[in-house]
Amino acid sequence: MLKLSLKRAYRSAQAKGFVLGLIQRKGVVQWNIARFLYITAMNSRNQQRKDLPTVAVILGATGDLMRRKLVPALFHLNLEGKLPSLFSVVGFSQDALDKEGFQRLVSNMASVKTGASLQSVASFSKRFSYQQGLFEEKEGYLKLAESLLMQDTAWKVCSNKLFYLATPTSHYKTILQNLKSSGLTKPCGIKEGWTRIVVEKPFGKDLKTAQALDRMLGKLFAEEQIYRMDHYLGKETVQNILAFRFSNSFLEPAWNKEWIESVSIRLLEKEGIGERGLFYDGIGALRDVGQNHMLQLLALFLMETPESFEGDDVRKRRAEVFKALEAPEADRLAQLATRGQYAGYTAEKNVAQDSLTETYFRINASLKNSRWKGVSVILESGKGLAKDLVEVQIVFRHLGYCLCPDKNKHYKNVLHYTIQPDEGVSMRFWVKKPGSKMDIEEKDFTFDYKQAFEGEEFEEAYERLLFNVIEGDQTLFVSTEEITASWRFVDSILRGWTKRKVPLVSYKRGAEVIET
Ligand code: BG6
Repeated sequence: MLKLSLKRAYRSAQAKGFVLGLIQRKGVVQWNIARFLYITAMNSRNQQRKDLPTVAVILGATGDLMRRKLVPALFHLNLEGKLPSLFSVVGFSQDALDKEGFQRLVSNMASVKTGASLQSVASFSKRFSYQQGLFEEKEGYLKLAESLLMQDTAWKVCSNKLFYLATPTSHYKTILQNLKSSGLTKPCGIKEGWTRIVVEKPFGKDLKTAQALDRMLGKLFAEEQIYRMDHYLGKETVQNILAFRFSNSFLEPAWNKEWIESVSIRLLEKEGIGERGLFYDGIGALRDVGQNHMLQLLALFLMETPESFEGDDVRKRRAEVFKALEAPEADRLAQLATRGQYAGYTAEKNVAQDSLTETYFRINASLKNSRWKGVSVILESGKGLAKDLVEVQIVFRHLGYCLCPDKNKHYKNVLHYTIQPDEGVSMRFWVKKPGSKMDIEEKDFTFDYKQAFEGEEFEEAYERLLFNVIEGDQTLFVSTEEITASWRFVDSILRGWTKRKVPLVSYKRGAEVIET
């Protein structure tokens, strides 16, 4: 074993004579020196591997996602020196632009979103080039292949290629087929010269379409090349759920149905659908944020301890939660899975006048596993509401032996875990009011994330996730197993809504509470 490691050290460090000399003497000091050499060599090799020339091809490069998320994320990664030294981005879309026009567009996007001056984003935009093409026509892809080849020839390597589908999912099939037939997705190797694909949510429209999409991806790529994006998994406060749950020993004994009465996930938004009618109408809130972001939050809060905190172990645990989820029974669906639409929704741009798409839902579900059976799981989300708030709320049970002066009151402790906008954790608890009587009152223990880490940078979700794709780390991406199990749950509710004709309740823009 010792000899094996040292032999590797020799290969990597290219210090044959010296290292072999150390093996022969086998002294402790010599071993440490050799080990140091080996680690240094490996680190530098890994560093080189991470620093391999990489091209990101963004399909749908003039769209909303590019403007809001991808350009700002790439800008920050560039600024922090986290991109490979040889890194370029090729934008692909149908818009008639040349390279300079696209670079100007990117500069604009970057400066508007990050506040950086146009001058300072100009050098960043030089990493970008452009290929005009229609998603459904081969020609554009062939030209893209040519320009990538030219890039590789100039760099004298077979570079890594990352294909980012920043388009509506309706284009996925055509794009994937054309990428394949033009030879673009063929890798040179697994670790070097790789090809990877990033697909955005919603992954399909239901279980059937999700499985069809997965089959298609499976024909073109191995699982380790596929990155199914759910940007919630990249948020700082979402990452912190793992630390919150698994680094604090006081939680675990109470983390079960004996102590917890309900778990609620809320994703409330003030804004309506804005300009996104084309995407949103016919999709609705449950598919848009329920099947993915909210279920992921739920999974992180309720999953069992993973064997390790890496890739597949975490994904496996999250999938188990989805598999254990149970929708309300059919005959109680109308009361336990309600849906609504804000007044004025059908007048929004690109929305059908008779649209029955929900912009709000509230579902009371449960889990069938032994830890959580009987605990109420509430999922609530809506657009056009009174406030922006994403939070997880855990309500603890009222205990029989508590000091509860008012016997009719529910003396519950409530844990609020706020994902945004005021990131933090607070715990509602009971305290004796000063004075001669035993009066008790509710107060909060609070932890303000931003205040506690004042001056620290909160990395943007897309920044972290794009970096992970380049690094090849899939922990924060969604597995096939998760997709299948989450759609099974969501499908049963969507079907129930249609079959049982569950009414779509109208609510006013800015409503605090939705009466259903
Ligand atoms: C997106 C949805 O995935 O998530 C949007 O399509 C939603 O409708 C958004 O507004 C919420 O994300 P965030 O990061 O703004 O909370």
